[in-house]
Amino acid sequence: MRTQVAIIGAGPAGLLLSHLLAAGGVDSVVVETRSEEYVAARIRAGILEHSSVELLESAGLGTRLRAEGDEHRGIYLQWPHERHHLDFVDLTGRSVWVYGQTEVQKDLIAARKAAGQEIHYEVSDVVLNEVESERPYVTFTDKSGNKQRLDASVIAGCDGSFGPSRAAVPAAQTYERVYPYSWFGILADVAPSTDELIYAWHPDGFALHSMRSATVSRLYLQVPNGTDPQSWSDDQIWDALATRLGHGQDGWKLNPGKITDRSVLPMRSYVQTPMRHGNLFLAGDAAHIVPPTGAKGLNLAIADVALLSKALIARVKENDPRLADGYSDAAQRRVWRCTHFSWWMTTMLHTSGDPFDAELQLSQLRWVASSQAGATGLAENYAGLPISY
Ligand code: FAD
Ligand code: DHB
Repeated sequence: MRTQVAIIGAGPAGLLLSHLLAAGGVDSVVVETRSEEYVAARIRAGILEHSSVELLESAGLGTRLRAEGDEHRGIYLQWPHERHHLDFVDLTGRSVWVYGQTEVQKDLIAARKAAGQEIHYEVSDVVLNEVESERPYVTFTDKSGNKQRLDASVIAGCDGSFGPSRAAVPAAQTYERVYPYSWFGILADVAPSTDELIYAWHPDGFALHSMRSATVSRLYLQVPNGTDPQSWSDDQIWDALATRLGHGQDGWKLNPGKITDRSVLPMRSYVQTPMRHGNLFLAGDAAHIVPPTGAKGLNLAIADVALLSKALIARVKENDPRLADGYSDAAQRRVWRCTHFSWWMTTMLHTSGDPFDAELQLSQLRWVASSQAGATGLAENYAGLPISY
């Protein structure tokens, strides 16, 4: 097989890249280890920042998002006995949208199918070859067990944190921070008990009330690393959420409901640089991981691809290497901003057990919630900086 861009991974980064490349007249072939159904059903992120929505819309992927997504003006920041609303629209003129990654993924799959995109699901033995040369290629075993070779001008590594692309950049510099806690996430068939997300600091640990629709809630609890999600009963989960989210505080109530999904997500920050080696370019989780507290993972993958698609179109179609040569530095500027913001949100909101840390966190939360400058800083980062930042 031969194509212009060989894309490894059919997550949001890989599929959006194939979509934007096609719009710019560049062909690609996508290879993915999982099945289409598995990729479409994975429950992950839920918040799209302002520029992600603009980008998806400009790429013709905004119809269902606008119809079924929910625009939020801001978030609530909370600690015991206090809840404060931060209005991002008033503070920065930018909003966010609640629209699950599952829905983004479904929209991408539908759009790529309609365009006849070649995607090989359920492949194995994916190997990147000769990425330093002008003729890189990917070898893999297809779903039927046949060995395949895919020749390309460029390989895009969009294969997340466990894929092979990351390791194909030799002598990369890596930065990592592992956090001493995880998120226990549940999905529940119950109307959200809040109109906008609640990020709650509590002595027992952080809690977050998010949502997917008018009838589905998504909630998270800080738990110790290694927690087995099956070791908590439904009542224990709802009780912990009620306590941490302030059930009974000023008459507010948390409505429990049927839990339909539960998982534990460890948290870490990871950045790898450069995001390019020869004719291999990395995008999304293949190059960086953020802890989920700032809702940045999916948005950062979208921002990388916005830059990379332009760079590859110029490189492959017009033989102009300038954007491709600048891709890693341009992407890293935003990566580090989001890495800092996610680390800051995480360390401000998760309890460590140290009383000194707790007082610093509460002091920071009070300042963010009461100062126009503090609130604007959070709002600007959460609602998201322009893609070109
Ligand atoms: P991925 O979505 O990981 O896609 C990579 C794709 O590559 C996958 O489909 C994978 O199967 C495929 N692949 C892997 N190896 C190979 C191979 N050898 N060959 C071919 N294909 C391969 N972010 C938030 O902002 N908020 C959240 O609440 C949140 N929750 C998360 C929960 C979990 C369990 C995880 C893992 C991530 C979560 N994230 C969250 C992060 C967010 O989902 C990611 O940042 C986003 O999915 C990145 O997209 P991506 O396309 O770069 O990577
Ligand atoms: C969700 C996930 C996040 O990481 C976050 O900060 C906000 C919401 C969610 O899954 O809805």
